[in-house]
Amino acid sequence: MTGRTKERAWAKLNLCLDVTGILPGGYHALRSVMQSVSLCDDLTVSVSPGEGNIRVGTNRAYLPTGEKNLAGKAAAVFRDAAGLADVDFAIEIRKHIPVCAGMGGGSSDAAAVLRALNRLCGTGMDTKTLCKLGESIGSDVPYCVLGGTALAEGRGEILTALPNMPECFVVICKPKFPVSTPEMFARIDSAAELPHPDTDRLVDAVKAGDLYGAAASMGNVFETVLPKGQREIASIKGVLRSSGAIGSVMSGSGPTVFGLFPEREGAEAACFVLRQRYRETYFARIPKSWDEME
Ligand code: C5P
Repeated sequence: MTGRTKERAWAKLNLCLDVTGILPGGYHALRSVMQSVSLCDDLTVSVSPGEGNIRVGTNRAYLPTGEKNLAGKAAAVFRDAAGLADVDFAIEIRKHIPVCAGMGGGSSDAAAVLRALNRLCGTGMDTKTLCKLGESIGSDVPYCVLGGTALAEGRGEILTALPNMPECFVVICKPKFPVSTPEMFARIDSAAELPHPDTDRLVDAVKAGDLYGAAASMGNVFETVLPKGQREIASIKGVLRSSGAIGSVMSGSGPTVFGLFPEREGAEAACFVLRQRYRETYFARIPKSWDEME
């Protein structure tokens, strides 16, 4: 078997993120509205006759190669599920999504590898099967297989597709302080009281195609338990708001913050201001339809 294909891995944002309990096995029960945005990594996935070897190359020297990279892990999971022991896999990733940011970059790369290999190898797995394979790679991978707008529950693997968010512009800003996802979950566990976002209100607004209602309902339970950087998050939100953002929130377990804008001009102005302080500031879109992005 020989072939090569290209695939895009869209970044994800959590429009809202809530932790509702602890699951058997120690993972947390989540409720989150997840959203793909136009910022993406570009992957080239190749297969050739071989012995099941997996090679991952990226334009970021500090990222792991091989199966330690989630993209390589995805190739291994796919190889084993499809019984392809006599094929080698090569994955080249041009990364644009910030790393360790709460934007699902690694998970989205893994999901893109599953989609690309399914196409390339003619294995004909349906989306549900690919999502199931994704579960063993990481909690956000099943959503990233689907993309678009979706409600994620359970560990993140119970997915309900939602109508696409109304078209808008997004400014994404990653401050420099690092966060550790397991540590953030531990902080949630020891918090006395948590202000939970109103996920149902957000879902209703998305269903009604109400951009302003959706933006006003965004929230993230992790914001309140940040050990440091809360002030920085507040100051980024201030810039976003004063440039015309109709809502802003932290994504995932942080530290990335984003704002939604109905107009391109406001988003561009916010980008200009934030880039002076934060190198990792990005302009992105939620398109009217994902078909136009192919
Ligand atoms: O599944 P994933 O490897 O992305 O999760 C990273 C870490 O985040 C886990 O080791 C766990 O500490 C935490 N997590 C959790 N509950 C979830 C998802 C992630 O506790 N639903």
